[in-house]
Amino acid sequence: ATELHVGVAGLGTVGASLVGLLDKKANALAARCGRPLRTVAVCARDRTRDRGLDLSGCEWFDDPCALAVSPSIDVFVELIGGDEGAAHDSVRAALEAGKHVVTANKALLARHGVELAAIAEKNGVSLNFEAAVAGGIPIVKTMREALAGNDVARVYGIMNGTCNYILTRMEQEGLGFAECLADAQRLGYAEADPTFDIEGFDTAHKLAILTSLAFGCEIDMDAIYVEGITSISKADIEAASELGYRIKLLGVALRTDSGIEQRVHPTMVPRASAIARIDGVLNAVAVDGDTVGEVVLVGPGAGGNATASAVIADLADVARGQMRPALGAPVGELTPYRAARMRRH
Ligand code: NDP
Ligand code: HSE
Repeated sequence: ATELHVGVAGLGTVGASLVGLLDKKANALAARCGRPLRTVAVCARDRTRDRGLDLSGCEWFDDPCALAVSPSIDVFVELIGGDEGAAHDSVRAALEAGKHVVTANKALLARHGVELAAIAEKNGVSLNFEAAVAGGIPIVKTMREALAGNDVARVYGIMNGTCNYILTRMEQEGLGFAECLADAQRLGYAEADPTFDIEGFDTAHKLAILTSLAFGCEIDMDAIYVEGITSISKADIEAASELGYRIKLLGVALRTDSGIEQRVHPTMVPRASAIARIDGVLNAVAVDGDTVGEVVLVGPGAGGNATASAVIADLADVARGQMRPALGAPVGELTPYRAARMRRH
């Protein structure tokens, strides 16, 4: 069968894991997808850095935009990060050139998702972003596919691994904030600028995407109240504990009489609740659907392999020829146009 030729821009925590896994799991993936997936081209800033990968069979690009439009690739994987510059330019170039795109970049989607989805629709290609929300948890697929028969009343959860890791270690080991954050950075959980994690903006980016999927509204970052965890002290955590609570950074979106309410803030959750028991880098996302009731998904929210797992899920869809509806299609409703495009090609 015809190989799917993959181009990967960004060989950091997620990109290096992805390229390693595509090689290591090549046979299994070919069997599962019905055709081989092969990394044929890569791009990063520093060509000389040893990334523990055999890149001898890959074409190297210094410029992600050149990789994005290269005739040698069928699908462009953006793992650079950032909502402007190289990430935005290269994703747009790939879609304009008729390439399918897979990205883990929630900041980019939260800012430019509507524009990029429109370009994808116009060019008959897919924009895939399973890894952009809650790392390895398959929440995007779950919302779009498994919960298609539901009207969603609320979606909420722990959506940032770095913050949950920090809060867990501060409580369980009595460590200071800065020490825990440094460990999260060392483990590859944090964003390149960890302010996005600890000030709540990364959770807000993910919540904005989930809200769009759940309620069919356009992404609107300005509509989200955002408060991070930088003001949480050991004393706060101890005080909450004495009262029978744990402090978690939650993202919440719910349908109200006056519209969709979206907020991100530290929350005291009862110690006996399921969400209170989500420790370390784990995330949890709960969806209230009118047909099914509450569904809760738990899993690693950050880290190279966990995130690459979600990227590979998107690549498998591309390999199988499965198209996705654009951002903003509500869970329970595909417009006829979009439904018609949910075809094999
Ligand atoms: P890293 O900072 O580890 O890696 C970024 C990569 O992009 C590096 O290889 C870097 O090159 C390359 N890069 C940066 N700027 C350019 C440029 N202008 N041109 C070419 N290459 C460039 O990031 P992560 O792997 O952690 O994250 C990647 C994306 O995945 C981000 O959008 C992030 O939000 C998202 N994500 C990350 C998760 C995680 O757990 N880390 C989880 C879920 C999503 P070089 O190596 O040469 O410096
Ligand atoms: N920095 C993010 C986190 C990566 O800690 O959750 C996963 O999106």
